[in-house]
Amino acid sequence: MLAPVAPSELQRLRALCQEAGYTDRGLLALFGPIELPTRAGRGMAHFVHLTREGRRLDILVRLFLLGLPTPHQVAAEALGARLLEDCGAWGLLEPHQDRVAARVRLLPYRDLLLAADQAEYPEIAERPGQVMGITASTVALANFAVRRPVEEALDLGTGCGVQALLAAVHSRQVTATDTNGRALEFARFNAALNNRTNICFIQGDAFQPVRGRRFDLILSNPPFAISPRLRYFYRDSGQPGDSFCRRLVREAPEFLNDGGLFQMTLDWVEHVGQDWRQRLAEWFEGTGCDAWVLRLNCETAANYAYLWIRDTEPGDSEQTARLYEEWVEYFEREAVEAVSTGLIAMRRTGAARHWLRLEEAPARIIGPIGDWVAQGFLLRDFLEANSDEQLLTAKLRLVPEARLEQEFAAREGRWQSVASRIRLTRGLPWTGNLDARLAGSLARLAGQRPLRDVLVHLAIELGVEPDRVIAASLPLVRDMILRGFLLPESVPAVSPGEQPPLP
Ligand SMILES: C[S@@+](CC[C@H](N)C(=O)[O-])C[C@H]1O[C@@H](n2cnc3c(N)ncnc32)[C@H](O)[C@@H]1O
Repeated sequence: MLAPVAPSELQRLRALCQEAGYTDRGLLALFGPIELPTRAGRGMAHFVHLTREGRRLDILVRLFLLGLPTPHQVAAEALGARLLEDCGAWGLLEPHQDRVAARVRLLPYRDLLLAADQAEYPEIAERPGQVMGITASTVALANFAVRRPVEEALDLGTGCGVQALLAAVHSRQVTATDTNGRALEFARFNAALNNRTNICFIQGDAFQPVRGRRFDLILSNPPFAISPRLRYFYRDSGQPGDSFCRRLVREAPEFLNDGGLFQMTLDWVEHVGQDWRQRLAEWFEGTGCDAWVLRLNCETAANYAYLWIRDTEPGDSEQTARLYEEWVEYFEREAVEAVSTGLIAMRRTGAARHWLRLEEAPARIIGPIGDWVAQGFLLRDFLEANSDEQLLTAKLRLVPEARLEQEFAAREGRWQSVASRIRLTRGLPWTGNLDARLAGSLARLAGQRPLRDVLVHLAIELGVEPDRVIAASLPLVRDMILRGFLLPESVPAVSPGEQPPLP
């Protein structure tokens, strides 16, 4: 459907979009932080209104983002006659009565321009092989990925190619796989559109196309929905429950170099009376990897089915109602109480012992956090390698992004502190309760004095035995190291450029 086109040809389209402001920043300025309509027609009036001025950007948005048929003459003015014709030949546009309509959606994301299906239209929405654009899970994985320079990266389930294209910037070579040939067609087109030449695309199931190879980074945003049957390739694996994601976790280590990372988005089922940590811990046993799981969200089974139906089915037809019922019945049959959404990072190492960290993610993760994920691995390694006695000799430093908040209540005629919390303003924005006096001492940690000195000083101030203060503080200090509030000398701070401070 999309013609193979040389990157040099496609640069004219990219340059025109950039000049017109058809970029992620340009769209943010035009619409504000609002979700685009998810179904043809729904909410369209608002977007039509916001693009009423008829500038080149407005026309490009109507054509390529909203999928609205546009008079030939108007499209020709925006694109130029030659590019308009080329877009037809490349498979992006087609005649629609006396107008032209986009056969694909063009999505600006970061510095990329990506072609994906116009999935809002019923005839496309019901195709099993439709190729999804940028969704919440796409963004979650793109933000989660550790962006250090690597030799070989793999994007498993590449879809429109977005993760592969992002990885191509910091990898010498990227391999991108998908079972859906149509997805690979889009991904190849997008590689050319964005002039990325170091990606090789292979069709096949899971790790089968890369048997015998090893990677430094494997990214996967797989078809993770927990659904009754395979209806869309991008959404459903066709395997029971979360077994496809479990399989990826179990197989990934075989394809990782030592020190290599596997990072994945996923959903997992929760059964009545079973702790999610206990259930997931089994997935990682014997993998030869350190593993970190962040749970982002948890929905009741019925709500989960409702959200997928709302976001992926064309309308409120009888068929949609039947699909919803089928979904809910499936959950009842399988005793699924809830479904959680999360992120997994695994690192292969030759060590005899491996650690496992399973926890709730902090609320409000915004923007790329890859550098903090990499730092999280180093911090956990540091804690594993150092006994309490060794920790007391460490010279820790409080990071500048730490903020202390105190809460006061009026008691006996004056404001008295009733709670204090510490939080981070960048990266993984953890928060935690912290005794105000200990917090006062931590402010003195600037990488110069051993931890023991600072805790002994606190004990003297409080008039308490130093050993008591040390014993009470060490678990907290460990937790604050784990979450990146306190850094040992061996772990570098994340550079300030990576992510703007959270408000
Ligand atoms: C959720 S989409 C992710 C697309 C893209 N990587 C992203 O991050 O937005 C999942 C992709 O995995 C592909 N897929 C489905 N089953 C697969 C399998 N068994 N092996 C490899 N890829 C598969 C689908 O065709 C789809 O393109």
